Amino acid sequence: MDRAAQLLASATEVLPGGVSASARANTAIGRPFFVSRGDGAWLYDLDGRRFLDMCTSHGASLLGHNHPRIKAAVQSALEMGVLCACETEYQTRLAERLRAMVPCAEMSRFAGSGTETVMHGLRLARTATGRHRFIKFEGHFHGYADALNYSVMPPPLLAGPADHPLPYPESGGMPQQNAADVIVVPFNDPQALRDAFATHGAEVAALLMEPVNYDQGCIEPAPGFAELCRELCDAYGALLFFDEVLTAFRIAPGGAQHYLGVTPDLCVLGKALGAGMPISALSGRRSVMRHLKPLGMSQMSGTYLAHLTGVMAALAALDEYAAAGLHARMADLADHFCSGVTQRAAACGAVVRVQHLGPRFGLYFGLRDPVTNYREAACRDLAAEEVFIRSCFAHGVFFQPSAHHGFSAVHTLADIDFALEAAQHALRDVQRFQQGGA
Ligand SMILES: Cc1ncc(COP(=O)(O)O)c(C=O)c1O
Repeated sequence: MDRAAQLLASATEVLPGGVSASARANTAIGRPFFVSRGDGAWLYDLDGRRFLDMCTSHGASLLGHNHPRIKAAVQSALEMGVLCACETEYQTRLAERLRAMVPCAEMSRFAGSGTETVMHGLRLARTATGRHRFIKFEGHFHGYADALNYSVMPPPLLAGPADHPLPYPESGGMPQQNAADVIVVPFNDPQALRDAFATHGAEVAALLMEPVNYDQGCIEPAPGFAELCRELCDAYGALLFFDEVLTAFRIAPGGAQHYLGVTPDLCVLGKALGAGMPISALSGRRSVMRHLKPLGMSQMSGTYLAHLTGVMAALAALDEYAAAGLHARMADLADHFCSGVTQRAAACGAVVRVQHLGPRFGLYFGLRDPVTNYREAACRDLAAEEVFIRSCFAHGVFFQPSAHHGFSAVHTLADIDFALEAAQHALRDVQRFQQGGA
């Protein structure tokens, strides 16, 4: 038994499924990817073999692993006394930095996971508007809270008509009555969105959306669609709430709202904010944020909110994201990788559509046409995706089975070429699989 097999045997005895988060199960390689450490663009397994990381902690490690500035920032927080549940000058500094970088971030409050912070954001939107229902797009993910974990990856047969989806609970144990507050609309369908507002607009607290739907690979809003979202929210007195947990700092220093030129009323910035440390921000217009206690009636508190380790890491990370040329460089590398995959697939006859924005991308095996919404994304061939991931892993490149993948700001051109070489082998395997060969 190798070390991973030994650890799996022990882990499954004490961790359900052998993992600490269900998304860490890895159906492609048949066990969780157990690592011993990470450094820059690379992860090391228990035997010290290295793998190029094309998951990057589901997007959190946008500065790679073991970044010296992030380590120094965390160390500085530890030296201040492993403080928590205290205000220091740094929470204010971080909120000021966000105000300068992110269009809607007049005020901010910090918490840990994206799940927690989007949950608080929905409560705030409900408090600020006095309404309870919210509109979400099918296929958009907003964390695991009971109120929010609907219609992310519904089985199409249980998801209702494509132009009028039903709220589908993504977990057992979610109170049935919550579904009544959720209005699900197909992404990039202006008429369906207009209809949803026309029917329910007076009850809608917020339109909650991923401004770029990375959770289905990479689906951008069609031209004019984000603007329509803004218009309809204004017309019906609802808040436009961008879930930028995954988009933040990846596409542009001011997030997807900066890139799209559409400013929401409220947003959540997560993952890359702490560059691997658990912190996310609920940020928004002052007139909305003033509904948080102690100014207003919306509760958002907790011992570990705005933990100094995360705050210090975020301050350092924001300096890196503001560096001139960073996003252009990542975009160039992404073009190089994604066009390289497309060309190699065409050359060997594998079918895969690649969509990317910034350093994150979706690989839709078996599809050729542009993917514009969840129902189209759901037609991709998951078995072929597993063949690709397994083969890349055998060639030293780690992709987590997921709709979206990506690299970090410290991946080099040589790293990306290494990934392309692995992809070339893997695409041949996919081609054989798609031909019914293996
Ligand atoms: C758009 C979006 N919102 C919320 C979440 C939940 O964030 P977390 O995993 O930090 O709880 C995620 C996580 O993948 C996400 O992609």
